[in-house]
Amino acid sequence: MPNTSPTLPRLIALPKAEVHVHLEGTFEPALLEQWAIEARQPMPRPREQLLQFSGLADFLDFLDWACGLAHTPQRLAALARAFCERLQRDGTGYADLIVNPTHWSAWHGRLRQLLDALDAGFREAEQDGLPKVGLCVSLLRTQTAAQAVELVDLLAAWRHPRVVALSVDGNEATAGRTGPRFAEAFRRAGRAGLRRTVHAGESSGADGVRDAVELLGADRIDHGVRAMEDPAVVALLVERGIALGVCPSSNLALGVYPSLDAHPLERLRQAGVRLSLNTDDPSLLGASLPGEYALCADHFGWDDTTVRALAQTSIDASFADADTRAALSARLAAW
Ligand code: ADE
Ligand code: ZN
Repeated sequence: MPNTSPTLPRLIALPKAEVHVHLEGTFEPALLEQWAIEARQPMPRPREQLLQFSGLADFLDFLDWACGLAHTPQRLAALARAFCERLQRDGTGYADLIVNPTHWSAWHGRLRQLLDALDAGFREAEQDGLPKVGLCVSLLRTQTAAQAVELVDLLAAWRHPRVVALSVDGNEATAGRTGPRFAEAFRRAGRAGLRRTVHAGESSGADGVRDAVELLGADRIDHGVRAMEDPAVVALLVERGIALGVCPSSNLALGVYPSLDAHPLERLRQAGVRLSLNTDDPSLLGASLPGEYALCADHFGWDDTTVRALAQTSIDASFADADTRAALSARLAAW
């Protein structure tokens, strides 16, 4: 069969949203090296091996080191702006961006200041015509129930205009089953009008995905791909119309699957699960959003209709306001 996959320039031009991407994963290595030299801090390993991760646990440790270097509001605002410039370059019209306060050691106990510094960068970028961003403030899987509730109560009291959702990320393989631990925090988030997005089915299996739906009330699931291990969980996702934010290159880089052939994304799509494509941690894992579309379109032989449907899901499943979603959808219809 001839390869009719859309080309990279057309995928850059594809109007789309990104709904699973971490601010912690957007550091450029050269910037980290510069900040480390200024702070007289040793790099965690030699420059040539800086981005060689042995798996999720090693990757999360690296995030603590990298985020620890961003200790001024100016650095946070610059990261926020650089993220919006990346969206513009990639033809991404909107992003839900995850930020996990536990990684940012200089801001512990100063969450409001962290949010305000990022917001300043996003606001300025938006005024300059760059794409809009909503923040998903994230718990770490290893936090306690009390810490989770404390965070949500702050978010509920502030109703910060930049914050659209509560999230939970981190390593379920080391934390174990924590759905019950976070149920109360997610319930309070829902009551406060926050949307809910949950990392599951990456370092946990299908049971983690079921807990995300049944215990945490997830509107959306980050990764979720290991739902494929239990047909009943796949059926649950289809029945509830819950979208997965899938990150193929991240799953390969962090060893969740050995190859795209082994990756269940196409089988999930064909089973009727709603999917979007995402980068997860673009700079650190070497992914771009048009690159993820190109990789999958080539590998799975997707035509324009399939690509358009995935982009539409990315917009519909995003936590953008209705006007932003409608404007992006209209642009997608004209693609
Ligand atoms: N934080 C940043 N990237 C992550 C991932 N892939 N899984 C869990 N937590 C993360
Ligand atoms: Zn993620």
